[in-house]
Amino acid sequence: MSEAISQGFIDDYDVNAIRADFPILSELVHGKPLCFLDNGASAQKPQAVIDAIADTYKHCYANVHRGAYAFSEQTTANYEAAREIVRAFLNANSEKEVIFTGNATGAMNLVAHSFGRGLLKEGDEVIISAMEHHSNIVPWQMLRDEKGVELTVAPISDDGTFLLEEFKSMLSEKTKLVAITHVSNVLGSVVPLQEVVEAAHAVGAKVMVDGSQAVMHMPVDVQDLDVDFYIFTGHKLYGPTGIGVLYGKEDLLDKMPPFMGGGDMIASVSYEKSTWAELPAKFEAGTPQIVQAIGLGAAIDYVQSVGLERIAAHEQRLLNYATQRLCAVDGLRLIGTATNKTSVLSFVMDGTHPHDIATIVDRKGVCIRAGHHCAEPLMDRMGVSGTSRASLAMYNTMEEIDTLATALEKVREIFG
Ligand code: ALA
Repeated sequence: MSEAISQGFIDDYDVNAIRADFPILSELVHGKPLCFLDNGASAQKPQAVIDAIADTYKHCYANVHRGAYAFSEQTTANYEAAREIVRAFLNANSEKEVIFTGNATGAMNLVAHSFGRGLLKEGDEVIISAMEHHSNIVPWQMLRDEKGVELTVAPISDDGTFLLEEFKSMLSEKTKLVAITHVSNVLGSVVPLQEVVEAAHAVGAKVMVDGSQAVMHMPVDVQDLDVDFYIFTGHKLYGPTGIGVLYGKEDLLDKMPPFMGGGDMIASVSYEKSTWAELPAKFEAGTPQIVQAIGLGAAIDYVQSVGLERIAAHEQRLLNYATQRLCAVDGLRLIGTATNKTSVLSFVMDGTHPHDIATIVDRKGVCIRAGHHCAEPLMDRMGVSGTSRASLAMYNTMEEIDTLATALEKVREIFG
């Protein structure tokens, strides 16, 4: 039992009141109540986010940073207010350290292009972990093939625990960047970031963290963690699609060349030479994700009104119950059983393809993901070609876990 639960933090966690804030949760699927357990892929949106998006388009929308008229100034103020919400959410030191991108993949590619191509050289090493999403593998492979940077992989154990001591023994003076997930999208394993950062910094390496599967499950303080870059996406945090965040330490972002060129990221342009705008504009070329950023701000406000500690405690209780229920299903094996994990349950069932499982439980209104989850090397490491995955969110209930378990027992009956 987590500390928060034992301290009674969630005695007043009213999951039904929270569910009432998410209009989509009252939909029916195949005539059954929607049982949405694919939150790791994308989470549903509370009314506050839907309203923030609709209100912007209905009442105050124009391009930002460009207009000398009130509507544009107000939209700019709303967009920049969203940046301040993100800054406070991560406890970044300055709004200059918060860059809006299209998604987390965009943010990781920004770092690979700008930090990677701008500040790394042949023979420098980038370390990733064995449980990365493709978006934290492929950009580094592209960099390796282009610049001769070395790419190495820190191992995990059979239960999906990040092997800290093995990682530490890989570090050397040639390590210039550790690019690592905070939480595995497949296994739910939480990486001990504090120790990773401390060890990486001791050899002079920077640390970039993919927090896409973390920020909805736990409070994150970038100054406390001392990470150099922290990335997340909006749509898994109950916000809209089309918005990602790159946090970077200001002195580092200052040293990095721009990623994309265009409007808004310049101070001046002539045919001979262009100069760059100050942060954060230097990394936000073109018309930015105006409405998406405002929607993300509303999502963060919503999550914080509930409280991340309380959400985490609720989800841990769901995880414990789901682990127990799923392990009781004949022939089911969990993939990823690290001690420190978030509310993600990947599993395989004897003689049954993950896609068949997802298709059968769908008939009961249960939405889960199946496949390699954009983590093919991790599938190889765990010795499976794919898994089925239930990923739980702040609005899920014990009854929904029962619905999933009953549906999986049905799968067992069908496949024998
Ligand atoms: N990366 C997302 C997932 O894990 C899409 O499902």
